[in-house]
Amino acid sequence: MTLALLGYASGSCLGALWVCRVAGVGDPRLEGSGNPGFSNVLRLHGRRLAAVTLLFDALKGMPALWLTMGLGLAPWAQGVVGLAVLLGHSYPPWHRFRGGKAVASAFGVLLVLTPWVALCCAALWVLLAWRVRTAAVASLVSAGIAPLASLWLAPDYVLVVVTFTALVLVRHLLNIHRLRHGDEPGL
Ligand code: G3P
Repeated sequence: MTLALLGYASGSCLGALWVCRVAGVGDPRLEGSGNPGFSNVLRLHGRRLAAVTLLFDALKGMPALWLTMGLGLAPWAQGVVGLAVLLGHSYPPWHRFRGGKAVASAFGVLLVLTPWVALCCAALWVLLAWRVRTAAVASLVSAGIAPLASLWLAPDYVLVVVTFTALVLVRHLLNIHRLRHGDEPGL
């Protein structure tokens, strides 16, 4: 419970807001897609700030997860702490529960729990973002593939990964609506 709370609290610190504030550029919630995440920072402020945002959001959940693993807790308990990180990022209390879409934070969590699944999904994300130039398509396809990759590479974590995928899909409902209507912003 304490580790889940730690995960939720660390997840709720949004990299995009800190990075943009420190860099003295505009609030990403007010421009582009309005999402406080690395894709929108990339769209608005370029690769350098997007990379720092990605790093921030991917790393922030790791201490809670390292503690969870260090204590030898079961995969489901590690998953609960990981999910807490993602929920903190998606529903941060300091920002009226309006957060990001949990892609970078899920990548960071998976990097600790199931590194090969995380790396496969990240490679797919980069390939799709490069080819399709739409972050949401890259995120949705990578999140959809993650449970299959887990089935193959880390069977003990399939249920955990399915839960993460479900959250990422829910957080992309607006993107799915925009994609269906052809007005999703590109990268
Ligand atoms: O990583 C978030 C991405 O999938 C969607 O972001 O800014 O295009 O809504 P955005």
